[in-house]
Amino acid sequence: MTEDTSHLNPSKLGTKEYWDTAYETEIKNYADNGDIGEIWFDESSQTRIIKWLKKHKISKDSSIIDLGTGNGAMLLELFDEDFTNLTGCDYSEKSIELAKQIASDKDCDCITYKVIDLLSDNVTSLGTFKICHDKGTFDAIGLMEDSAVKKEIYVKNVWNLIEDNGLFIITSCNFCEEELEKSFHDYFEKFEVIPSQTFQFGGKVGKTTTSVCFKKKTL
Ligand SMILES: C[S@@+](CC[C@H](N)C(=O)[O-])C[C@H]1O[C@@H](n2cnc3c(N)ncnc32)[C@H](O)[C@@H]1O
Repeated sequence: MTEDTSHLNPSKLGTKEYWDTAYETEIKNYADNGDIGEIWFDESSQTRIIKWLKKHKISKDSSIIDLGTGNGAMLLELFDEDFTNLTGCDYSEKSIELAKQIASDKDCDCITYKVIDLLSDNVTSLGTFKICHDKGTFDAIGLMEDSAVKKEIYVKNVWNLIEDNGLFIITSCNFCEEELEKSFHDYFEKFEVIPSQTFQFGGKVGKTTTSVCFKKKTL
């Protein structure tokens, strides 16, 4: 039997309470000093994805949803690059409050924000999108109690959110390419690995994050 290397022990990062508290603090920090808070895996991880979208000539009016948007920094970077059909969602009301405030201060009024639990049946109320983007959200779900079941629900819900021929782009620090492929292969096929920063140690090349673009399968 092959060992399931994708199982992680539950952590506080897999709870809504953790994110609500984190974004409540970030709302205060933002009001006090204009700091928008943490951008997971650094701004360069966003820039790489946007570079990839441009390389693949993804049209600027393609519908794009950022799943588990946090402070919404990815959407604002897409907005700065003239993408016009943008939605952000998160299960933390505080995340959406923060993201809306930052966007409004940047005079950006064309992003739609929704509070939604991506593991719930309500996901279908969001509609469908050409591109679903996830940076760190599948990672957080992998840290929930009962994560194996939760990850399966997430994969199925993301499949329902994507238009036929649409793409799912995920950046993870907890799962490698093979583990992501294993989690998503029932509903998606690997389209391309998006190059990420590598480091070398003892002659071996490693990565801190993995970004993969998957194509929706027709089932
Ligand atoms: C690691 S943070 C990443 C935030 C943002 N994507 C970024 O790259 O900066 C994970 C995000 O996923 C959200 N999240 C976790 N589980 C969720 C769920 N079931 N439904 C919706 N959002 C969820 C959290 O509230 C948090 O904002």
